[in-house]
Amino acid sequence: MIKELVLKNFKSFGQGSSCETGPPGVMRIPGLWPGVTVKFGGLTLIIGTNASGKSNIRDGLRFIHGISRGYTLAEIIGEKYVEGGVLQWKGIRGGVRETVTRDGYPAARFAIEVRTALRPEDGGGTAHYDITVDVGDKNRPPVVTDEWLRFDRHDRRTFEWKAAASPGQMEIHLRRWTAKKALGPRFTMRNDRPALTQILELSGAKDKDVVDEVQIECRAFLRTISSVRFLDLDPNSLRKPSIPGQTVLGDKGENLSSVLQAICGDAASREALIEWTRELTPLDVQDFQFPEVSLEGKVQLQIVEAGGRQISAESASDGTLRFLAFAAAVLGTEPARCYFFEEIENGIHPNRAHLLINLLQTATRGGKIQVIGTTHSPALLNFLDEQGLKDASLVYRAGAISRVRALADIPALWQISPRPPAGDLQGSGWFENAVAFLESEGKP
Ligand SMILES: Nc1ncnc2c1ncn2[C@@H]1O[C@H](COP(=O)(O)OP(=O)(O)OP(=O)(O)O)[C@@H](O)[C@H]1O
Ligand SMILES: [Mg+2]
Repeated sequence: MIKELVLKNFKSFGQGSSCETGPPGVMRIPGLWPGVTVKFGGLTLIIGTNASGKSNIRDGLRFIHGISRGYTLAEIIGEKYVEGGVLQWKGIRGGVRETVTRDGYPAARFAIEVRTALRPEDGGGTAHYDITVDVGDKNRPPVVTDEWLRFDRHDRRTFEWKAAASPGQMEIHLRRWTAKKALGPRFTMRNDRPALTQILELSGAKDKDVVDEVQIECRAFLRTISSVRFLDLDPNSLRKPSIPGQTVLGDKGENLSSVLQAICGDAASREALIEWTRELTPLDVQDFQFPEVSLEGKVQLQIVEAGGRQISAESASDGTLRFLAFAAAVLGTEPARCYFFEEIENGIHPNRAHLLINLLQTATRGGKIQVIGTTHSPALLNFLDEQGLKDASLVYRAGAISRVRALADIPALWQISPRPPAGDLQGSGWFENAVAFLESEGKP
């Protein structure tokens, strides 16, 4: 589970006024300020006006997830193609130059920190990872200028960046938590790719026991950031037939039919899916069928209504398909550990918002799945339970830069009695006013 993301000089999350008194032309070092922290719960809704910075948080999470794929920094920020010219990874919006905050200072570095909960099988507790990237020189790729990993259960870092080495290289120290020596063995690595995944490729006799221990920790941490999906559902992709056995939903919602088919293999899940759909739509859904529709053996969802009327995915409504895709994502047989949905309410009618919230709250309650979603919808906020409301975060602008505050940290919200529905407060701009007041009181 991802517990916290800290953004420093990343996109709109700059230092802002705290640095405006500094001499122009001075390079700022992100490590010198704490950055902007975003906290995540089981279900986290991110609210805020247009261009407040919600999707920039998604970009920060995508950067961290990109690391887990073993990519170089240029691939994470730019794009990654595989053989045959197939695009495997879409980069960060804005590319290299716009990853760093543009606020009039020649800062060329950004830093991202993440805290994640380790799986019980990996010993539990929290992992803390930090990476600083320099994108300053147009003639070379972005490079790592600081990086470390630490498990809260140890009193030292698993590994850390120590120095720049010969051009294109960096020196990384591995630490052995069972040994008392302050510094472990050093390894020289490429500086255009995070050390985290290069460490996994170390082999050979040199300090093998330390390398083995450090690799175990790196893998345990990587497991917490690798199973993250960024879904951007598209009705056309949701309608396409797919081959039975394709049980992972694509980023645009591809394979919906075969994922639902696998879910319906279990009688209780099939019944639950029928119930949800019946409530969402005015249709009297009785069953789902998955007839073969192509010579390659692809199947396509068919909704069966009372009286036996059949509606294929081709003519099902966009909102029904989107809702089924949410259900397929979180109830599927191979769910990811974390889903990020942009504008989660798209296509769902406000008076059905409670169904979406119910579905997501039910799915995330067990702690196995985490859902993060940006939203402009007051209706969604109105249906959050108390914990969901506390876990939601407001992204807002303080001058030119973005800031984030968990709703749990807006005292006035918890003091109003009786409390109006949170969605009404969102609609009237109450949250932005409340944080502007806190900022003016010096409690940013
Ligand atoms: N490198 C940068 N430096 C400063 N500001 C930036 C940088 N990159 C992006 N921004 C700011 O971030 C804004 C976009 O933020 P983002 O896409 O996160 O908005 P959003 O909250 O998702 O809005 P919407 O609800 O409209 O999707 C841009 O308008 C720009 O002002
Ligand atoms: Mg956005």
